Amino acid sequence: MGADLAVDFGTARTLVAVPGRGVIVDEPTIAAVDLGRNRLVAFGKDAIGLRGRCAGEVAIVRPVCHGQLADLDLTWAVARELLRLVRTWSVSQPTVLCCASGAATNVQRRALDRAFKEAGAGAVRFVEQQVAVALGSGLRIEEPVASMVVDVGAGTTEIGVLALGGLVTHASVPVGGGDFDEAIQRLCARDFELAIDLATAEAIKYAIGSAWVEEDDKVEVRGRDVSSGIVRSVVITRTEVADAIAPRVDCILLAAVSCITSAPPDLANDLLNRGLYLAGGGALLTGFGRRLASTTGIPVHLVENPERCAVTGAVSCMATMGHTAESVSRRRW
Ligand SMILES: Nc1ncnc2c1ncn2[C@@H]1O[C@H](COP(=O)(O)OP(=O)(O)OP(=O)(O)O)[C@@H](O)[C@H]1O
Ligand SMILES: [Mg+2]
Repeated sequence: MGADLAVDFGTARTLVAVPGRGVIVDEPTIAAVDLGRNRLVAFGKDAIGLRGRCAGEVAIVRPVCHGQLADLDLTWAVARELLRLVRTWSVSQPTVLCCASGAATNVQRRALDRAFKEAGAGAVRFVEQQVAVALGSGLRIEEPVASMVVDVGAGTTEIGVLALGGLVTHASVPVGGGDFDEAIQRLCARDFELAIDLATAEAIKYAIGSAWVEEDDKVEVRGRDVSSGIVRSVVITRTEVADAIAPRVDCILLAAVSCITSAPPDLANDLLNRGLYLAGGGALLTGFGRRLASTTGIPVHLVENPERCAVTGAVSCMATMGHTAESVSRRRW
């Protein structure tokens, strides 16, 4: 067995799971930091609760941006907090298995390794996000049959074609659900001269965001007039939102197509038979699976628990593979 804890330190959500116990920590990746004393005040929902109520030098920050660690000290503080949260379920000096985004450079991985070790971990290992997602989707990746996964997160999309326990082709695009929110925020500013925050943009996405519009629909949005600052409302349609996020959606679709076209042609049949497994919270955007299926020509299955798929896959990686996670992640065709 390779590790004691699995960690998915995502742009929007941080999850920690323990074999036999499941997911123990599921928190938004948000931290409240005392800038004066360089100290973590709160993490996750507790930090969100402090939003707008912080006095003096306390700032609300996101420790991960597009899958990349924002700051080493903050990463260490968050790692220490995560180990504190799971201490009842974990051994002391646990081996931590981190899901690693393809966007994370070796420097980033070393930073995460150092942060967890300094926070009390005995060892740190990494598993590629696509491998974790494939295992979490129940795919038998050690077989000589190709599988494909697409994990649309908040800040990155990880795509991989896998066979014989490793990645055949892969891509990591710095685009995810958070970029759809930003596109909606820009749409409001540009076309309606209305300033809205990202939480409002995300709520619009949940209500009428689509990658494939069948029937038009609309919502009323409240915000501040860009020039006067006065609160007013506008009506935005599903088609307008779809047009605003389309370039971001297309970016992901293009990367998926290029992953398929750069894989050996004899694997195409496997992909057609098995289909493509779609995971990550960003994949819940209405019509995304349908667009992906129509663009790639491959049937798409949305996994059962898209946001937890990677961390549960990392747990099954520790529990079922006969070798360490490191050897899983390093093996490439
Ligand atoms: N029903 C939904 N419709 C559209 N988007 C959704 C839905 N539910 C969640 N999301 C989006 O999913 C994203 C979070 O997904 P996830 O938890 O997989 O990201 P993450 O793992 O933290 O990020 P990353 O993998 O990029 O580092 C957010 O942008 C959120 O708005
Ligand atoms: Mg993720």
